[in-house]
Amino acid sequence: MASDLFSIDSEFDRNRHVRFLDMMYDLLPSDYQSQEINHLTLAYFTLSSLDILGSLDQVDKEAIVAWVLSFQAHRRNQDEPISGKLYGFYGSRSLQFPADVHRNLKHNGSHLASTYSALAILKIIGYDFSLFDSESIVRSMKNLQQPDGSFMPIHIGAEADLRFVYCAAAISYLLDDWNGVDKEKAKEYILSCQSYDGGFGLCPGLESHGGATYCAVASLRLMGYIEDDLLSEGVSSSIINIAMLLDWMMQRQTADGGFHGRPNKPSDTCYGFWVGGVLKILGGSRFADREAMRDSLLTCQSVYGGFSKFPGDLPELYHSYYGLSAYSLLEEAKLNSLCVELGITNRAAYGS
Ligand code: FPP
Ligand code: ZN
Repeated sequence: MASDLFSIDSEFDRNRHVRFLDMMYDLLPSDYQSQEINHLTLAYFTLSSLDILGSLDQVDKEAIVAWVLSFQAHRRNQDEPISGKLYGFYGSRSLQFPADVHRNLKHNGSHLASTYSALAILKIIGYDFSLFDSESIVRSMKNLQQPDGSFMPIHIGAEADLRFVYCAAAISYLLDDWNGVDKEKAKEYILSCQSYDGGFGLCPGLESHGGATYCAVASLRLMGYIEDDLLSEGVSSSIINIAMLLDWMMQRQTADGGFHGRPNKPSDTCYGFWVGGVLKILGGSRFADREAMRDSLLTCQSVYGGFSKFPGDLPELYHSYYGLSAYSLLEEAKLNSLCVELGITNRAAYGS
């Protein structure tokens, strides 16, 4: 137990995290105002955290489903062409405005990342996807794939990179409908992002990064291109250069036991998941120093509950969610296990 603001915990404190997340569920502090456009993603962090902790019983499931569905972008009628737009989910209420006098939206601001967050929440809550219009999502998502196989997150004026390939793969997997993705092209794009040092960059030629590497490996796994636990029987062949990737991954655990996303950076709580998660998908968790990882994560367990990015900082939702996710990879403290490639618990994904 932490006795003051500066002491370091030797134990994971489940109750403290539940209290912190209950607070976030009731009312987001005003510091999150600038994050309003990511409201659905903040809700996903909160609810999936509660799910990892096994504390979802206290949320109002019907209200959450209604709230999430209220962000879905709809065609005005069945005849409106899908043409170039995404009919997914808006990130927040403010993105749904302005509407015209007939209350029709003047623009469609739905985004692949908020669509992924919305579907992840609905899956966590146990919503039946056959009850809503998933066809418009899938058909319109097809418009966002670029000739090189990458995805843009919205229909106009955005970057295209591995983050949105991942969102498209996760959306397709959750909806069990791959008609919105040319998988072969997406695969070629992902493979072209593996760098000379073995890690993956967000785009071909960019610096290898733990987050981008997660997007690459998790997408390939969801698309069925890499088998489960590839490394459990030793380094085997794969469509990716697995030996170089493992070599790069091994160098991401820093002297303090934590993980960073790229060389010459300090360790940061979230990479315990982005990097530790890739090791888990590949069946290579044994290659990390788990004791050191645990101790390092606990240096960022806040006295207020939740996790911070660095020791002594205040906790926030992003690092709290990925800190909890990383902690669940250690398979202790009776946390619900994660389906790493989907970013939700195995309970939510498969009921187990
Ligand atoms: C560098 O930021 C950050 C990136 C290159 C993007 C990382 C990608 C993810 C975290 C994955 C996103 C996941 C999904 C599911 C879409 P920085 O320079 O602030 O970070 P750093 O200093 O830690 O390298
Ligand atoms: Zn971080």
